[in-house]
Amino acid sequence: MRKPIIAGNWKMNNTQKEAVELITALKPRLKDVGKTEVVVCVPYTCIEKVKKAVRGSKIKVGAENVAWADKGAFTGEISAAMLKEVGAEYVIIGHSERRQYFGETDESVNKRTVQALKNDLKPIVCIGETLDEREEGKTNAVLKTQIEGAFAGFTQDDIKKVVIAYEPVWAIGTGKTATSEQANESIKFIRKTLAKLFTRPVANKVRIQYGGSMNAKNAHELMSMSDIDGGLIGGASLKAEDFEKVVKFNG
Ligand code: 13P
Repeated sequence: MRKPIIAGNWKMNNTQKEAVELITALKPRLKDVGKTEVVVCVPYTCIEKVKKAVRGSKIKVGAENVAWADKGAFTGEISAAMLKEVGAEYVIIGHSERRQYFGETDESVNKRTVQALKNDLKPIVCIGETLDEREEGKTNAVLKTQIEGAFAGFTQDDIKKVVIAYEPVWAIGTGKTATSEQANESIKFIRKTLAKLFTRPVANKVRIQYGGSMNAKNAHELMSMSDIDGGLIGGASLKAEDFEKVVKFNG
């Protein structure tokens, strides 16, 4: 049985003050989350404050990216050790916005993920096709390339520590959710690809989230699908009431 994992991705939202307000509102709402693992991935500047604010709750804290080097002349980057120091436990890697606006590639995603694992940070690695790619029937080919690139050189032990987020780019921030069948079908394909690379029992252990306009209304249906183990939530993670409903997808 894979443990469900719902993670918020705040993206470039919330000052420290707003972050603490949001966590303060979330804490009482997320007292009883059953066996669901709950994570909030927040801007670098908020991590330390959020880590303090979640004390006494089960909410875990993550970052939204990590450098692929240990240290050195990499202006603007933040290392895994720096993230650990301020209390991050998870880190999102390869989000489509990083790929689209900041030139990240499967190769840089691979290096960042290696760096996260080396430093005991739990990676949430994002993959997903664009609308053009889906319409041209290339979804599976794109996912396969992204998986082979992101996890090149990984051992079975490595891949078991990774959470994968399947985020079709056309569903992000658009209000267009993949149908639960579409999402499940792609996630099944991702698992099949992992099985070929790492064996079926290992693939069955890897948690795979869906992301893209997931919200209070569709979380229950998405989460009831066989292969969907969680969600990576953008917009709906910014309001306590909405995020609570997604986390409590079972009602
Ligand atoms: P939305 O939930 O706002 O569509 O964003 C999804 C996402 O990009 C999470 O990483």
